[in-house]
Amino acid sequence: MKSLVIVIAILIEMCVVTVYCKQSCGSHASCGACTSFTEDTCVWCSQAVMTGRRCVSLAEISSHKFDCQEKHRIYPTTEVKVSRPDLNSNDFRGGEDGIKKDAVQFVPHNLDITTRPGTVVNFDMYYKPAKDFPIDVYYLMDHSFTMIQHTATLQQEGKNLYNELKSFTNNVRFGIGSFVEKPALPYADPHRHVAYSFRNHLSLTDEIEQFVKVLKDVPFGANYEDPEAGLDALMQVMACEPELNWRKGARRIIVLCTDGTYHSAGDGKMVGADLTNDMKCHLKGNSYDAELTFDYPSVSQINKVATDGKFIIIFAAVENIHEDYIALANAIHGAKYVELKRKSNIIEIIRNAYLESTRVMKLSLDPNWPLNVKLSLNPDCLKTEDCKVVHNQILQIQANLTVSSCDGPRKPVLKIGPANLMESLSIKLNVLCECDCEKGPQKNNSKECSSNGSYQCGVCKCNEGRSGSSCQCSGENAGISESHKCKANETDLHFCSSHGTCNCGKCDCNDDFSGNFCEFDDKSCVRVNNQLCGGHGRCHLGKCHCTQNWEGDDCSCSAEVSGCINPYTNNICSGKGKCVCGECVCEKESKQKESHGGAFCDSCEECSERRCQELETQVHCTYYHTTCNKDYDAVVDVVNRTEINSKQRQGEWCKKTLENGTWIVFRHYYDHTDRKIHVIIQDQLEAPPKADIWVPVGIALGTVLLIGLLTVIIWKILVDYYDAKEYEKFAREAQDAGYEITKNPFYIQPGTQFSNPAFQQ
Ligand SMILES: *[C@@H]1O[C@H](CO)[C@@H](O)[C@H](O)[C@H]1NC(C)=O
Ligand SMILES: *[C@@H]1O[C@H](CO)[C@@H](O)[C@H](O)[C@H]1NC(C)=O
Repeated sequence: MKSLVIVIAILIEMCVVTVYCKQSCGSHASCGACTSFTEDTCVWCSQAVMTGRRCVSLAEISSHKFDCQEKHRIYPTTEVKVSRPDLNSNDFRGGEDGIKKDAVQFVPHNLDITTRPGTVVNFDMYYKPAKDFPIDVYYLMDHSFTMIQHTATLQQEGKNLYNELKSFTNNVRFGIGSFVEKPALPYADPHRHVAYSFRNHLSLTDEIEQFVKVLKDVPFGANYEDPEAGLDALMQVMACEPELNWRKGARRIIVLCTDGTYHSAGDGKMVGADLTNDMKCHLKGNSYDAELTFDYPSVSQINKVATDGKFIIIFAAVENIHEDYIALANAIHGAKYVELKRKSNIIEIIRNAYLESTRVMKLSLDPNWPLNVKLSLNPDCLKTEDCKVVHNQILQIQANLTVSSCDGPRKPVLKIGPANLMESLSIKLNVLCECDCEKGPQKNNSKECSSNGSYQCGVCKCNEGRSGSSCQCSGENAGISESHKCKANETDLHFCSSHGTCNCGKCDCNDDFSGNFCEFDDKSCVRVNNQLCGGHGRCHLGKCHCTQNWEGDDCSCSAEVSGCINPYTNNICSGKGKCVCGECVCEKESKQKESHGGAFCDSCEECSERRCQELETQVHCTYYHTTCNKDYDAVVDVVNRTEINSKQRQGEWCKKTLENGTWIVFRHYYDHTDRKIHVIIQDQLEAPPKADIWVPVGIALGTVLLIGLLTVIIWKILVDYYDAKEYEKFAREAQDAGYEITKNPFYIQPGTQFSNPAFQQ
């Protein structure tokens, strides 16, 4: 039994831990913890004096009594401040001739969000690619024989490409560069081959004639077969922004065209270039000057510079080295591999690179975006394929931002923006993890805490040796031992079963709770007809305490005994039972001869005669209209003989015998509706029936006859016996004398013969 109780207690404890702590506001002891709770929306009360919990959920406020004035309720709300873009005005501005400094393709640029954890913040972002937005395309090719045909294609089609791109934007620039290899053994023999890491042949320009001319002039087709300085060249192309005329804010595309693989960081040591690549521009004239000083850049260095400068790199490489370049493209933000075909597809590659950079939008997040800030987008522009831009239309991106916890920076500035544009949205986030009243120095020894503690948000932090909600308790009872008294078990999580406050070692229970540890719910007693304690008592300490005249566990029993008083005898249940809930419960005693039943435990075999006797006196008085002491209140009715015998009448029959032998006949019964005895008296006396003279005469005659008959029978038996004896004696004497007497000589056995008269023989 005891172990069962413990098991139940543990189960309850577990429920308390899992349900109460996880899903309720009640487990928080400070304002900040309360209002930053994410499972529920909680409100904190900073009122100095209050009963009940300080931290309750919004739902509880409406359904429960929350003893807290409106002005003391702390309920931080989420605020989003944004300069809403007016999409019909000039919010989106593109550069028309060259780049306008204020070209805008992505709005808004600034957002202030103040939010409590767990709340979803909605905002929208808009993107519209500007018409005539500047685009810079730099064509970087390896200087090998196989590049001849691609160069030839560019020479022929260059003009067409330019015109085609102009149909999308009026603002295209082209540039050309090439690379071979670091000019040192063992990679290349500078005495036998033309070898260089990077050469710029044409800085970005919008004069297409010049582009075509330069393509013709570059002496491609050198017999060096393994050009591998691609990353060296790529770094210079990106690092030399002003030198190559890269425009700020323009869409920047680099098409690297090659049929060889690449060297990367570490490989330079073989030729003595052992300084780590410094990611800076080292152009002298149009050539990379420090190719033998600095090592090849690493892939991550390329990635960093490409990301910072928002370069879109297209690796156009032949099929047999595609694996190298797919891996490289995957490691660089915004990079892509396309297959360079034998029959040149270089024009198509450049056109697609442009279209893709304008028709598909990809957003990128700050690399150090905090983990506790969740962002979901619709459409999900963090994945490119979901985010298509329709020409000349505004793309709306709905964002849901949620701070999931207080584990993270409180006031971060977060950036999100199109991956290949210089524009971005910067979100100034303010995460509310503490209340205003918790900021600033605490008030020490404040009067709210009996001058013995520091006060904050309605809660006192007591000085040593003090305790209680307002540090009012002191002395021996204070401290840990004192608050311990407010827990029924050491293992309890909360004071006073979390239904009250611990006050100097005593629980002050909230309304509807009672007990030393507030462990009794005064709303949980038995209900009868949906009323606590049947409406006839008070629920306290887990039990019903009944009001006067009510009893029972649920107070549904009337203690009124009037219904149990036997109207015939005026005692409760005739002394043969107990009055329970206003009704007699008769004793069942097997020893007693009489077994009592009935409404008053007064019906038994011999009882009805006794009842008649009890009524006789009054019946007599009534019949002769004399006054008599009435012991009880009875309804008396005097009727004629027909009436008293009629079927409508009920009751036990009684008769009172008068002195001259005549009877007063009456009936009686107890009516449960009016709770009265009813007596019906016959208005006529009844004479006892006359005795019949023939009955005693018959009996006397019968007796005489019987005696006579018996005498005759006995005489006959005696005679027969004497005869038998005589015959026996005669037979013995005859035998002795030699006579045979067993056979009667005159006796002949009778014969029988049947014949069927209808039968003819
Ligand atoms: C007896 O009383 C009833 C009404 O109480 C009446 O109808 C009936 O006639 C009476 N009978 C005699 C024989 O008087
Ligand atoms: C018997 O006695 C009662 C009074 O005691 C009287 O009213 C009644 O008429 C008497 N009856 C006879 C048959 O004498």
